Amino acid sequence: MKRYFFIIAFFFSFGLYAEQVKVVQLLCENKQNPLGIDIRNPMLSWQLRSEDNGISQTAYEIVVTQNINNFNSNDYVVWRSGKIISDQSVHVVYAGSTLYSKQKYYWKVRIWDKNGKVTPWSNTAFWQTGIFNYNEWTAKWIEPGYVEDTVLRPSPLMRKEFNVDKKIKSVTAYITSHGLYEAQINGQKIGDGLFTPGWTSYNKRLQYQTYDVTSMIRKGKNAIGVTLASGWYRGLLTWNSYKNIWGKSLGLLLQLEIEYADGTNERIVSDETWKSSTGAIRYAELYNGEWIDYRAAKNGWTNPCFNDSDWSNVKVTTYDNSILVASNSEPARKKEKFYPVKIFRTPQNELVADFGQNLVGVIRMKIRANKGDSIFITHAEILDKKGNFYTDNLRLAKQQNLFIPADSTEEVFEPQFTYMGFRYIKIQNYKGIIKPGDLIACAVYADMKQTGKFDCSDTLINKLQHNIQWGQKGNFLDVPTDCPQRDERLGWTGDAEVFFPTGAFNMQIDNFFEKWIQDVSADQLKDGSIPATIPNPFINHPEDDMKGSSGWADVSTIIPWEMYITYGDKRILEKQYSSMKKWVDCITSQSVNYLWTRGWHFGDWLSYAPDNDWQERAAKTDKQLIAQCFYIYSTYIISQTAKTLNNLDDYNFYNNMLSKEKEAYVNEYLTPNGRLISNTQTAYVLALQFDIVPEGTRSQLVERLVNNIHEYNDHLTTGFLGTPFLCHVLSNFGHTDLAYKLLLQKDYPSWLYPVKNGATTIWERWDGQKPDGNLQDKSMNSFNHYAYGAIGDWMYKVICGINVDEKFPGYKHIIIKPIPGGNLTFAKAELETYYGKISSFWEIKDNITIYHFKIPCNTTAEVHIPVKNVQNVLLDGKQILSGQNINDLKIALESGNYEFKVIR
Ligand code: BGC
Repeated sequence: MKRYFFIIAFFFSFGLYAEQVKVVQLLCENKQNPLGIDIRNPMLSWQLRSEDNGISQTAYEIVVTQNINNFNSNDYVVWRSGKIISDQSVHVVYAGSTLYSKQKYYWKVRIWDKNGKVTPWSNTAFWQTGIFNYNEWTAKWIEPGYVEDTVLRPSPLMRKEFNVDKKIKSVTAYITSHGLYEAQINGQKIGDGLFTPGWTSYNKRLQYQTYDVTSMIRKGKNAIGVTLASGWYRGLLTWNSYKNIWGKSLGLLLQLEIEYADGTNERIVSDETWKSSTGAIRYAELYNGEWIDYRAAKNGWTNPCFNDSDWSNVKVTTYDNSILVASNSEPARKKEKFYPVKIFRTPQNELVADFGQNLVGVIRMKIRANKGDSIFITHAEILDKKGNFYTDNLRLAKQQNLFIPADSTEEVFEPQFTYMGFRYIKIQNYKGIIKPGDLIACAVYADMKQTGKFDCSDTLINKLQHNIQWGQKGNFLDVPTDCPQRDERLGWTGDAEVFFPTGAFNMQIDNFFEKWIQDVSADQLKDGSIPATIPNPFINHPEDDMKGSSGWADVSTIIPWEMYITYGDKRILEKQYSSMKKWVDCITSQSVNYLWTRGWHFGDWLSYAPDNDWQERAAKTDKQLIAQCFYIYSTYIISQTAKTLNNLDDYNFYNNMLSKEKEAYVNEYLTPNGRLISNTQTAYVLALQFDIVPEGTRSQLVERLVNNIHEYNDHLTTGFLGTPFLCHVLSNFGHTDLAYKLLLQKDYPSWLYPVKNGATTIWERWDGQKPDGNLQDKSMNSFNHYAYGAIGDWMYKVICGINVDEKFPGYKHIIIKPIPGGNLTFAKAELETYYGKISSFWEIKDNITIYHFKIPCNTTAEVHIPVKNVQNVLLDGKQILSGQNINDLKIALESGNYEFKVIR
């Protein structure tokens, strides 16, 4: 291939442009004005904005103060960085004097551009520190004081009243619990997070949340009330219905810190003065649903002057508070609302509402019924072949709510401590008429910023992108899960690992995964092995834990590395390094001469396997072969991580090991004619993707892969482990046309088969619903499983060509390499990075292909455009070069907007 390299730079300042550069989007620990940051040297980031091209930073200055009105006096300023010569504008580590617990710090920044012009100061941003030392918790753990009904375990209520006599300056609440909590002050919910304190490895890390509740407190009498529920902590989990995994009793730890205007302080804490009782929530389980009986409601109990004389005292207990950590990932929140698109009777005469979208969340229902009526709402993802309500694939999960009104006036029911995966609901025992607006389905998911968009001329591909995004929303509820409906909903490591790159295009997922990956290392076993699901619900049943499977356990190396490359934060590698190393060493301990021979593996989970396989077309890849591939990949990652962290001894050690592992692979699994012992797409894909075989044999493997695809009539046969890389490998080895073909196939097995069949999310199985309308086996048939959505990564990276340059992680340097194809006439992708928005758009009009690129300020890009003759390339309407015959034009660009036209 003939290449040409061309540089477009902006050497001149255009008039007054430097004054137009603005510093915006100030972030601390990747969040805007966060509360409760317990990192003592947090990271600060900002963006440059300008209408002009070619904008970059050459220096910055940061000032941090404790007094919003005073950025000058040393009495308040804790860090004045001075002018620092650096182009770094993302993840700058705080380097001022020691920060204190529970304090607000205000900061601003200005920068110097490449012409030496300084910008005005940014607006002021702030962060508030969390509780640095667990001894600062003076609150006590309180538990219900009454005798609990151990069958239904109704949700406990806990309350306290207090007086405020003086003028308030600020009030901050720090709250955590065993089980889930929902807290209110004077009848109003604190914050808008759901499922707090979130799911972590509770015996090792328990999160608390920090809230600014100043505006909720009144002068005079106030009340605070907290509802608890079993949630993950002690609720039913796994297909074995384990309960009380992390503890038997629900409990609350709450500290309200009042700062008065006169400079004095007061604390209201959870202690023996609180009262406990139960209320309307008679039962709440994540899998099974919630029973709300308004006859038992304690109206007004979170308001002052409520009579709690018949409530029980609370039980005060102690727990190890050294495991408390501030939460920094986005909580689940209520997001999109859906109204029924249809309410109808099924052939079995069931009353069913269809919301048109398979989603994860809850139903809000306005009910007009009689006191004591029992209205059941059951949730399902799909109707069966005959159009009847289908719940068999939920296995033991009931997904059913029970609403009991207190009287015949209209009442609104909405569960608080459960969630369902559903598109349809079945309504039973409701005699009222359902009016428009009576039923709302609220989607609930971790409220991360949407960063990516993908759109093209093919409506089915756009639907696929929609489905990938909804698969992500539905399965990013505090932890990355496999599915959101049946009796699993667990943090399956393999699923998270394969979906991460796609997920990172669609949303800003770094804080979410930083939380989860810490649980991966917290739950790592003594021998370095990694449990199959994190947080690990098998801690009391280690014999049932499917730990250490290749492709699943490798999450411990793959995700930190991917996070570093995608977001550029080296800290994640520092934090995870010993866990990553322990996992690779664990594999070595299960190997003989660098061949991973022992252990247990899921393999290429759910790969193509026809029902009646008399022609032996099932694509089964040898599990040990796969294991060796992941051994190699994890070793590669740890060697690269060691290098990045300047640990050259480790780098040499693992790098040396890497070649021995590859050698062992070649000896064991590759024939002299470039055939692998498993003649499957996944086998060839993994060998090529992880760069395992010698250069000379690669083309043979590529040929075998291509032939294999042809043998299946240009269809994929890959499972969880091969699918994410299939199209990438084809593109990397010059077969993007075949990758497009696979993407655009519409019959089984393919990505568009479910789309054609009305899917609104990604299915677990390539044939969740078969061409004859029958459903796959109920034991394993989720209709909301994001793993196969991993193709999204290829759509962003190859169709529109947005790639991070691994040498400059976090998109400081971007490689844009779009490859039009597959009869698409346009494609557009956008990605919001910490520097700003990248976009890549191409469009084919008659004999011209037009490319538009947007490169954010303070980054650079290398753009590759497929051309036949460089004379045919116009930049902003002008020919850029002449007389060259090339087919890969490489152009170095600074920030800005560009349009290229290529005459075909
Ligand atoms: C889950 C997965 C998971 C798998 C392990 C399933 O039950 O739903 O997606 O990765 O088990 O093979």
